[in-house]
Amino acid sequence: MAAENDPDLLIAVARIEELRGLIAYHNRRYYRLDDPEISDAAYDRLLNELRDWENRYPELVTAASPTQRVGAAPLEKFVPFSHPSPMLSLANAITEEDIRDFNDRLQRLLAGNDAIAYVLEPKLDGVAVNLLYEDGALVSGGTRGDGTVGEDVTLNIRAIAGVPSAIAGGPTEGIPTRVEIRGEVVIATAAFRRLNREREEAGEASFANPRNAAAGSLRQLDSRITARRPLDFFAYALGIKEGGAELKTQWEILTALKTWGFPVHPFARLVQGIEESLAGYRLLLAQREELSHEIDGMVLKVNELALQAELGAVSRHPRWALACKFPARQETTVIERIDVQVGRTGVLTPVAIMRPVRIGGVMVGRASLHNQDEIDRKDIRIGDAVVVQRAGDVIPEVVKVVPGRRTGRELPFSMPTSCPACGAEVVRLPGEAAHRCVNIACPAQVKERIVHFASRGGMDIEGLGEKMVSRLVDAALITDPADIYSLTAAELLSLDRTGKKSTENLLQAIAASKNPPLEKLIFALGIRLVGASTAKALARRYAGLKELADAGGEELTTIRDLGPEVSGSITRFFREPANRRFLAKLEAAGVVSVNRLLSPASPAAESLAGKAFVITGVLEGMTREEAKSRIEARGGKTTESVSSRTHYVVVGASPGSKLKKAQALGIPILDEPAFLALLEAP
Ligand code: IVH
Repeated sequence: MAAENDPDLLIAVARIEELRGLIAYHNRRYYRLDDPEISDAAYDRLLNELRDWENRYPELVTAASPTQRVGAAPLEKFVPFSHPSPMLSLANAITEEDIRDFNDRLQRLLAGNDAIAYVLEPKLDGVAVNLLYEDGALVSGGTRGDGTVGEDVTLNIRAIAGVPSAIAGGPTEGIPTRVEIRGEVVIATAAFRRLNREREEAGEASFANPRNAAAGSLRQLDSRITARRPLDFFAYALGIKEGGAELKTQWEILTALKTWGFPVHPFARLVQGIEESLAGYRLLLAQREELSHEIDGMVLKVNELALQAELGAVSRHPRWALACKFPARQETTVIERIDVQVGRTGVLTPVAIMRPVRIGGVMVGRASLHNQDEIDRKDIRIGDAVVVQRAGDVIPEVVKVVPGRRTGRELPFSMPTSCPACGAEVVRLPGEAAHRCVNIACPAQVKERIVHFASRGGMDIEGLGEKMVSRLVDAALITDPADIYSLTAAELLSLDRTGKKSTENLLQAIAASKNPPLEKLIFALGIRLVGASTAKALARRYAGLKELADAGGEELTTIRDLGPEVSGSITRFFREPANRRFLAKLEAAGVVSVNRLLSPASPAAESLAGKAFVITGVLEGMTREEAKSRIEARGGKTTESVSSRTHYVVVGASPGSKLKKAQALGIPILDEPAFLALLEAP
């Protein structure tokens, strides 16, 4: 029958075309925009349906069909990264039955009766990367992309603390001369939550889940932004490997990776046969909620590399490995109302209050909706049936509305025009996603600020939590964090339900907090975008609050990991007269920090006067800018090229030709520890 006359074929052509369009659209949302619209399961359904159609009509398969490729094309803004050897993807199993089928198939293919040895690894939910090491040194790194070509993210990879810039151990210890290290860039669940909180405070859009946060952080054109994000790396495979000791099993690979200094997930284990594999799968599933990083399944790998080679690959999947997916943690429920919470910086956050549902063993009844844009984008209304999932294991998230369940009685939501805590005006600043209460004296903000000040990471005042602060503010006994230092026993005893003993304890804890480490005091101030790690970096640089307050924005950006946004926020904070008054009040109350972190190099010392430095390679502990400014602080200068007038050459990882030139000229060469010693010498 001619094609034109075959109605089934016409339907197939139309549906295939539609599916390819949908998949391309969702690929773009997932890979390019880091903003998926549908769940992985729904995406897989589209792909599976397309695969089914193509199986029935093989003549309709094209090279460009999404079934013939994995992933999406790289972003244009990064240089393409061609993988020396292709990065394959994994076939999926959904049920234990699928896992048994996989093992049965392998038993048949290998025609053996012995139990197959497998390595079990968590399937990390992040961004797959490929790192190329030559002679032990990291030379480049790229994302997976379509498996053949990804994006060159070398600078960003270097900014990840867990990625060794050099393989540990000497060449005698079996290090390959050229090797691809594969693994996943991920973000820990707790760090993801912190990052989102900071972003919400700053009025930036929050990430939907840790995977998107990791992807968004890795694919930054400015690697300083990447450096500030709490990214982790876990290694799980090798690509090409030239030289070095022979490795015969996946388990030996993981062991070698560990010896070489790469983080390997602690769950990874070697088992025999299908029953032990399934037991491992159930164990990992049970541990899922407690793991520090989000996972979406378990990867089962044949241990023997010789067997792997025998099994080979079909299309883009190796036959010797299987991704055993975990059941989705999504449920459907109904939004009963939307509350609005006011944070420390006055940001209003809409929160969906839902009919409680059980997801992955935990009852979920509320979820942040982040901001009005997010609500509009998802078209969420009060009364809607919604799909809820627990992103990052802990944080419930409204994925989407179920439009089929609309009755017409749902109510659209819009942010209040006056603050629910104090009634003051609510504004939305240009360029910000967040609405804010304009009243800095807003009791909700005041309470949050004081709670933050007294928190464990800040002044660490035991007994001054949410409830106590709320009572003190409501009783008008305190209006800012400095007021706590003038609280009296009589005032505390005037509060209901406050006994003599707890009053004594609280006053003691308050008094004991007056000499905090500088980094804790900086954190306690609640400067926008300044979390614990930034506070620490600042304390390493400045002797005290005064010195920090006087630092200019430009100087601040020379600190490792500190970008223009953060430095702007810091300088604005100290410029604000109300904040200056607050700091004076703290000082008057006797709050004086101690600094044990300050690098001893004091700007006054002129120990390097007249000395010329050249820096080559990547330093571990500081940026090049920071190194420069520390040399200058001691009276020295830095130049770009090595000449007979150069006094010292400072050498970091992967140095350039400057090192050779310095050696040829006999100029003293300093590695990083020697350079630090020189900087810190009295
Ligand atoms: S092995 C052929 N091991 O899963 C070997 N992959 O669909 C392929 N992934 O792109 C990679 N955890 O992003 C491997 N322990 C693990 C993994 C893992 C997560 C991801 C990786 C890859 C995808 C394959």
